[in-house]
Amino acid sequence: MKNNLSNIKKSKYYLDKNECIGIPTETVYGLAANAYSDKATSKIFKLKKRPQRNPLIVHYYTLKNLINDCEINNNFLKLYKKFCPGPITFILKLKKNSKISKNVTNNKNTLAVRFPKHSLTRKLLKNLKYPIAAPSANISTKISPVSKKDVKDEFGNKIKFILDGGRSRIGLESTIVSLLRKPKILRLGGIEINKINRVLKAKFKYNKNLKDTIVPGQSKLHYSPGIKIRLNIKNPKLDEAFILIKKKKISNKNYFYLTKNKNLREAGRNLYKTLRMVKKLKYKSIAIERIPTNGIGQTINDRLLRASKK
Ligand code: TXA
Ligand code: MG
Repeated sequence: MKNNLSNIKKSKYYLDKNECIGIPTETVYGLAANAYSDKATSKIFKLKKRPQRNPLIVHYYTLKNLINDCEINNNFLKLYKKFCPGPITFILKLKKNSKISKNVTNNKNTLAVRFPKHSLTRKLLKNLKYPIAAPSANISTKISPVSKKDVKDEFGNKIKFILDGGRSRIGLESTIVSLLRKPKILRLGGIEINKINRVLKAKFKYNKNLKDTIVPGQSKLHYSPGIKIRLNIKNPKLDEAFILIKKKKISNKNYFYLTKNKNLREAGRNLYKTLRMVKKLKYKSIAIERIPTNGIGQTINDRLLRASKK
């Protein structure tokens, strides 16, 4: 391969060769491969150490590309019109003649689909003849990556290329909505429940009961930095990292702030980066201040609760 190719062309080159690459999205970075290829998608599972039974999300450029693979319905069209491209994933029925690899769906007849907003990844998708399967680019059960460097930390030289799109703007994974029958929220994410309610005229509520938002890959262990996490803490121990929602006047070397002014979007963007940093600094335990549960705070609390269950 010539060295002077653009990064989009390099990405296409590897994907066309059935290799996995890292791609930026507005939520988190993905580990991408040709969703129509058994060979390419099997590499994702190997690299991530992901159980085969945990299906993958497939990323499309537009609706036009999706109709070869999925049955679409009215609820889908309403949400698509309002939020796509953006941080929302739909579970739809797979068409019988779809070319999606069996690895992606674990042989089932449903498919998770998403239309990412990041401009580089959109440019890439526009140039490909197939959609891309891409779970978050982390080893299974670990924290999702929000920068090229994070992906590099996870996989080192095991992947051939990472398309650098800067820091992920949202920093939390997409909201997953099942539209197979009655709509159902399967995972909280980058789009708040009340926004989805408004479009579907539904009444989904934030529920701390984790069982209500279980999808195959959302075991309790998920989002773990591999360190003990304690939530809703006011007084941390001296030797633990203390993550605070907002910058305070007093500052200690073990204090880490998610925001300047308590903006929850900013807190979401900084969450995984901060957890990763604390881990690198070799803290053995993390205390986290109470995070408000309004807006995107629901998603932040969901992730923290899962990360704290070990
Ligand atoms: O923001 C995101 O969604 C990121 C970016 C890269 O797009 N992707 C992501 O993928 O978070 P992953 O694989 O880490 O999480 C996808 C979740 C998994 O928990 C998986 O079990 C679930 O989606 N899933 C995939 N296909 C499904 C299906 N057909 N039915 C129900 N859940 C499904
Ligand atoms: Mg993941």
